[in-house]
Amino acid sequence: MSEIILRDICKSYENGFQAVKNFNLEIEKGELVVFVGPSGCGKSTTLRMIAGLEDISDGELWIGDKLVNYLEPKERDLAMVFQSYALYPQMNIYDNIAFSLQVRKVPKKEIDKRVHHVAELLGLENLLKQRPKNLSGGQRQRVAIGNAIIREPKVLLMDEPLSNLDAKLRTQMRVELAGIHKALGNTIIYVTHDQTEAMTLGDRIVVMNQGVVQQADTPQNLYAYPVNRFVAGFIGSPSMNFIKGLVIEKVGIPTFCTENDGDIPIPDFLWKILKRQGYVGRNIELGIRPEHFLEEPAGADTRGEWKMEVTVTARELLGAEVILHFNHNGQDCCAKVSGDSLIDKGDKVTLWIDMAYISAFDLETQENITLRKGMFS
Ligand SMILES: Nc1ncnc2c1ncn2[C@@H]1O[C@H](COP(=O)(O)OP(=O)(O)O)[C@@H](O)[C@H]1O
Ligand SMILES: [Mg+2]
Repeated sequence: MSEIILRDICKSYENGFQAVKNFNLEIEKGELVVFVGPSGCGKSTTLRMIAGLEDISDGELWIGDKLVNYLEPKERDLAMVFQSYALYPQMNIYDNIAFSLQVRKVPKKEIDKRVHHVAELLGLENLLKQRPKNLSGGQRQRVAIGNAIIREPKVLLMDEPLSNLDAKLRTQMRVELAGIHKALGNTIIYVTHDQTEAMTLGDRIVVMNQGVVQQADTPQNLYAYPVNRFVAGFIGSPSMNFIKGLVIEKVGIPTFCTENDGDIPIPDFLWKILKRQGYVGRNIELGIRPEHFLEEPAGADTRGEWKMEVTVTARELLGAEVILHFNHNGQDCCAKVSGDSLIDKGDKVTLWIDMAYISAFDLETQENITLRKGMFS
């Protein structure tokens, strides 16, 4: 049975603004689900409705087998960790972690057992006698997490809990959180605007935009099979490249005509899809991931190739990889090539595209055309 069910959940604020529209999701026990999307898309609103900190305007929220729309936060058996977390400065770390049990009059022995268990899990054992001011940002955030998990809530809600930490610490905490989730085995809903964080943490990711769920899927599926242009562009770094053009048959050859690159042959598998869906004679947008630009043709066994002459405007060395930036029909594009590539800023080069991985999008509906039924027939 699902642990949490959101059924057509909506939120309209008092000023009439619709922040969340018909949010539907079932979360399994023990799952780590990440809500991700740009700032203002309704992630925190949704989380706060689950927590009971915000009224639900419409729809049903189920936790376990209970309809909880009208239950107080404390009756929902969940705990929340926020971006900015308040520790009690005059109390030591032990008491900061133990606090929520102490106010519930849990026996001292039981509290002690649980504090040590949580401290061990979070690597805070040597800090229990310290005051918060003596701890680093990452350590303090761990204390806040300890305070939330010590009650062993069914569900842990986290709203951008790592945003205040520096990049290195964020990466480290991400790994730790994944470990904590594994050790605890509880259900976690985690909110972030950072797609990298979402991709590395989530069992499942819910991509939101303007109050609407775009896609809820595994990280792998979101990357390989984005349902629309928004998800395709949002997931992945650097972002997918998009190229507009016209689909036609030119002297019997399936062709994609673009403004500057002229004619590009359309590979068989794509042509079948485009023809069946009625896209011949229409403009569409092709989507190419940066890593599907190649410095050399991939070989005769690929499902078609296409080359492009580009002038490199910037080169970013990331270590094992190099990001090459170039302009294409007025759009910034980038390619991800090997770190030992000799291509430099200002170079005019040919890049090959592995057409086997190309996506196509409807210009109006923004849907991913290549995903529809019959893709591989
Ligand atoms: N109390 C409120 N009254 C009206 N609009 C609000 C209120 N709180 C948030 N919003 C709006 O709702 C939208 C979603 O907000 P939020 O859920 O905080 O987004 P996110 O967490 O994804 O950044 C935003 O456009 C925000 O301005
Ligand atoms: Mg938010």
